[in-house]
Amino acid sequence: MNRHVWHSARLCPTGDSTYTINNAALAIEADSIVWLGNTAELPEPFARWPSTDLQERWITPGLIDCHTHLIYGGQRANEFARRLAGVSYETIAREGGGILATMRSTREADEDTLFMQAAERLSTLLMEGVTAIEIKSGYGLDLVNERKMLTVARRLAAVYPISVYTTFLGAHALPPEFANRSDDYITYLLNDVLPPLADEGLIDAVDVFREKIAFTPAQCERIFEAATKRHLPVKAHAEQLSHLGGAALVARYGGLSADHLEWLTDADCKSMANAGTVAVLLPTAFYFVRESKLPPIERLRQYGVPMAVATDSNPGTAPSSSLLLAMNQACTLFQLTVDEALAGVTRHAARALGAEDKHGILAVGRQADFAVWSIDSLAELAYWMGHRLCERVIRRGEEIYRRMTLPYEKK
Ligand code: NIG
Ligand code: FE
Repeated sequence: MNRHVWHSARLCPTGDSTYTINNAALAIEADSIVWLGNTAELPEPFARWPSTDLQERWITPGLIDCHTHLIYGGQRANEFARRLAGVSYETIAREGGGILATMRSTREADEDTLFMQAAERLSTLLMEGVTAIEIKSGYGLDLVNERKMLTVARRLAAVYPISVYTTFLGAHALPPEFANRSDDYITYLLNDVLPPLADEGLIDAVDVFREKIAFTPAQCERIFEAATKRHLPVKAHAEQLSHLGGAALVARYGGLSADHLEWLTDADCKSMANAGTVAVLLPTAFYFVRESKLPPIERLRQYGVPMAVATDSNPGTAPSSSLLLAMNQACTLFQLTVDEALAGVTRHAARALGAEDKHGILAVGRQADFAVWSIDSLAELAYWMGHRLCERVIRRGEEIYRRMTLPYEKK
């Protein structure tokens, strides 16, 4: 049985920097935390267990990336170049580029290729301290290819030491075979795609893209109705490019999260607060498409809407595999405090996944998922850009990653 004590660390158990323990120890048995507190008070029998001196390094809960489109074929650097020349994301989408360009390369790619490409991105996140991730479908847009994407997500979870939450995003874009027949496409999703994939256990939640270039409120509602009947939680890409009521709709269905939210109104904040719906902020997408409209952070604070921060990792608007970068951008671009950014990638992100009982905080009885950081202050997590800060990742009690050079370690 795995038994280990990690001691002499600085511990931030809840992703809240106002509650930390200096000279902390964590005792792990099997996959869970059995004790945590001051190293000097470590009781028997833990004091006799194998141990590691962390020499005042910081421990945080494993980070959680609660919004990604990690699995896709190809890349869209050509569109990036066009957008820099002034062509808008919407224009490219209407021309059949954008999500549909990635749909074509995703349909063409076989399962192993998708797996290997996504695995690269996943490992990068993992080496940054991420122990749980959400992955959306939405580049297949038919039964065979949506199943292929979700199967890859489940395979990643089977092979890599990371918790994967899958989201069905069939309503991401209208595939060409349904051109000008968007209601028929929704009917197809509801009759022929969602039921088998849900029955196969491939879906943990259901997302929709509520935009002018995507789906109407009535269409999103049909999806939410069907999801709710199957007891699948819902969420939406909402108010990203314009205000269209997606967030209020999610709140009405008691959804997990509304994501993006640049155009969110006061009334939406209120509905989300009442429904307990998390606001998922995606500053990397904001940065990458050079948005100027800021999400209403102060309002979200006032109404007490929990804010999560995620990468949105995708080939069109956020070709990123760094959650620490998203934290940095949440602070610099959206003026989140460091504490808010940290809560946003730990306990609030867990809530956005409906998994707050599993992930996001460190406490006795909880799963031992944590990261060890070579930093002096927690603010450094949001401060550095492109640095390797993560020294070790422990998931379910086992060390699954260790950075190559550990200068403090004497052999
Ligand atoms: O979260 N907005 C829709 N989905 C993605 C972009 C997908 C793409 O461009 O491939 C997003 O920004
Ligand atoms: Fe997204």
